[in-house]
Amino acid sequence: MSVGFIGAGQLAHALVKGFTAAGVITANRITASSPDTDLPTVSGLRKMGVNFTTSNKEATHKSDVLFLAVKPHIIPFVLDEIGPDIEDRHLIVSCAAGVTISSIEKKLLQYRAAPKVMRCMTNTPVVVRKGATVYATGSHAEVEDGKLLEQLMASVGFCTEVEEDLIDAVTGLSGSGPAYAFTALDALADGGVKMGLPRRLAVRLGAQALLGAAKMLLDSEQHPGQLKDNVCSPGGATIHALHFLESGGFRSLLINAVEASCIRTRELQFLADQEKISPAAIKKTTLDKVLQQPGVSSTSVTIKSRVNLFNHRNGVKK
Ligand SMILES: NC(=O)c1ccc[n+]([C@@H]2O[C@H](COP(=O)([O-])OP(=O)(O)OC[C@H]3O[C@@H](n4cnc5c(N)ncnc54)[C@H](OP(=O)(O)O)[C@@H]3O)[C@@H](O)[C@H]2O)c1
Repeated sequence: MSVGFIGAGQLAHALVKGFTAAGVITANRITASSPDTDLPTVSGLRKMGVNFTTSNKEATHKSDVLFLAVKPHIIPFVLDEIGPDIEDRHLIVSCAAGVTISSIEKKLLQYRAAPKVMRCMTNTPVVVRKGATVYATGSHAEVEDGKLLEQLMASVGFCTEVEEDLIDAVTGLSGSGPAYAFTALDALADGGVKMGLPRRLAVRLGAQALLGAAKMLLDSEQHPGQLKDNVCSPGGATIHALHFLESGGFRSLLINAVEASCIRTRELQFLADQEKISPAAIKKTTLDKVLQQPGVSSTSVTIKSRVNLFNHRNGVKK
């Protein structure tokens, strides 16, 4: 089996590092493509021994399992680009937030019957094999395809299948979750520093506290509220601190954060469905493709804040 990545950014880099560390695939069987060659993630992939190309078609030709790891609104461009190159053997795995299986299948059905599509939502801790991944299976993918994806993703953390309509909520929780944790850790370390701890020690202690708490929860399977109660002695320091968090709306903030990420994911889906992109999102190879389209000049791409270019191919409105 060979694996390809369209998009060589944070997620592709994290997944490749996780897969190779897990030994589930070797770097020389992985090909990644991106229009930019000077990204830190691209040099990281090259150093790991991954085959890198600026051609998305080449990455497609050289892979059996093809991860789509570009921003959601780029997905329609990429599908039009690689659609003619998809063959029976290909399993297309979209990692893009919000983009539905049906929208991907609809695009690919223009090029071939029964494209095998899966959608997954993972997170960057796959880099240390502590990722959280869910996936949903497309209408033409088979049980074996699900098993293959699960084998890959379970090698880099937790992985389970869900109904597709749950994936946006997963994005809000565990997809964006590492960012919430890093922000919390930064603030916790600030608290430690405020109270006199050296920064490095404060960061380490905060991280170890979250790591330990998460492991305790997963190992014990107790309700998090119970574990919290266990460390709140009557009249003690911790319950005083928790009262402070509650007064500041700590729980509501976290609930709102998950909701905000989920809602934004749905907006991204809308943008991808509309096939509208902002000029800033159009990069090199895709920009060339856009500029080749009748009636589109570099000026119009630069000036217009939002261009709906995907509905016009070869000058014909679909
Ligand atoms: N990062 C996360 O924690 C996370 C978690 C779950 C899901 N995801 C999903 O994973 C996807 C990738 O996220 P990311 O964080 O890895 O983003 P990223 O770091 O911005 O990576 C995207 C990569 O795609 C490249 N790219 C842009 N246009 C392209 C094209 N036409 N063909 C090939 N490559 C192209 C980008 O190059 P440029 O830099 O030159 O634009 C960049 O290297 C997104 O859809 C996101 O929703 C991310």
